[in-house]
Amino acid sequence: MKEDFLQQSVTVIGLGYIGLPTASLLATRGFQVHGVDVVPEVVETINRGDIHIVEPELDVLVRSAVQSGQLRASTEPAPADVFILAVPTPFDDNKTPDLSYVEAAARQMAEVLEPGNLVILESTSPVGTTERVAEWITNARPDLADGKVYIAHCPERVLPGRIIQELVNNDRVVGGLNEASTAAATAFYRQFVSGEVLPTGARVAEMAKLTENTFRDVNIALANELSIICDGLGIDVWELLQLANRHPRVNILMPGPGVGGHCIAVDPWFIVDSAPEHSRLIRVAREVNDSKPDHVITQVRNRAARLRDPVIACLGLAYKADVDDMRESPAMRITQTLAREQVGRILAVEPYGRRGLPAELMELGVEHVAIEQALEEADVLVMLVAHRHFRRLPRAPLQQKMVVDACGLLSLLQ
Ligand SMILES: NC(=O)c1ccc[n+]([C@@H]2O[C@H](COP(=O)([O-])OP(=O)(O)OC[C@H]3O[C@@H](n4cnc5c(N)ncnc54)[C@H](O)[C@@H]3O)[C@@H](O)[C@H]2O)c1
Repeated sequence: MKEDFLQQSVTVIGLGYIGLPTASLLATRGFQVHGVDVVPEVVETINRGDIHIVEPELDVLVRSAVQSGQLRASTEPAPADVFILAVPTPFDDNKTPDLSYVEAAARQMAEVLEPGNLVILESTSPVGTTERVAEWITNARPDLADGKVYIAHCPERVLPGRIIQELVNNDRVVGGLNEASTAAATAFYRQFVSGEVLPTGARVAEMAKLTENTFRDVNIALANELSIICDGLGIDVWELLQLANRHPRVNILMPGPGVGGHCIAVDPWFIVDSAPEHSRLIRVAREVNDSKPDHVITQVRNRAARLRDPVIACLGLAYKADVDDMRESPAMRITQTLAREQVGRILAVEPYGRRGLPAELMELGVEHVAIEQALEEADVLVMLVAHRHFRRLPRAPLQQKMVVDACGLLSLLQ
């Protein structure tokens, strides 16, 4: 490892929601950064100083990183001191982890690795993946066997919408395959993280990330189950939880239309896959959250059945408030199902959908409209995502509509 850390070069592989903010932050902190993505348009956009994803402050950071010459992107890895893997780790149809992106990236990277390099897997990964990265590297480059490169896992825990601040401020768990790798990776993060950098082993670091998201998933499943029970009992779940959470040792998370995104809805399955016979609660929580969209769909269907030509407006398509990310979004699934089942004329309002509606909604005839048109024309308002644009809505016009409030928006209005 070089002593003069600010001279370090870093190659970041995968320039999405995690890789691009990380690459541009490192570049503005003085590292020479080479970004790699398999999608040529992503590479071209970044090299122009533009961004292909929505994240506050990211545009300014990328522009300044590219203009200063500290960040360049290409489709091929380049030699560097440090390599960060930030590629997707989805699951397949059987809910088993798909490590093909990590494997492809590790093999490509192996071609340019040199002894003494530090490799950090940041992708959320099932326990044992960092060991597999080491195997893929040494399969491709037997000359790098026996600890000639440092290899560690450092899971990312940023919150979309606050990525730039949290990249710096969050505490980080860093687990190497051996002590030297842990020390090298810890030293690297301490250069730009102001939160605490907490050293451990790779397997603990992998499991820590999965455990964090599983905690949230199980707690949200409790809230979602309570919301369905409360619907049946005629109780306002939002009022209930506000009161129950006044207990000094109770902190129930909020219910919603389901759980989306590529983290909380995915990561618990990595634990289930590793220990199926002992993951009963974790599995059931996932199933509760996965079934919540069906409950919302039934609520909408029941209201629409009272009308002759119902017009239904779905407010929000993203997987959570104030982001543009629609991956694994329950709001998308609900809107799509309502359109496919022709429950009515379906309008969708998504203030963050600057590229228009996703193709799967367009082909079902869903209309992308502004909030004003939705309030004017819809009989049924389905509140799916509490985006800040919706939190500013006046209460009065909503009271004349049938409302299915899956995200607690009404309780947030003035
Ligand atoms: N987005 C989040 O908020 C978040 C938070 C914590 C952890 N994570 C984890 O971080 C990892 C990355 O997530 P993301 O949201 O940034 O994904 P993303 O889909 O936004 O970005 C991944 C990028 O990697 C590129 N890619 C795929 N294979 C590649 C390869 N072989 N070489 C180079 N580039 C390749 C893709 O084209 C894409 O641009 C995942 O494991 C995810 O679970 C994400």
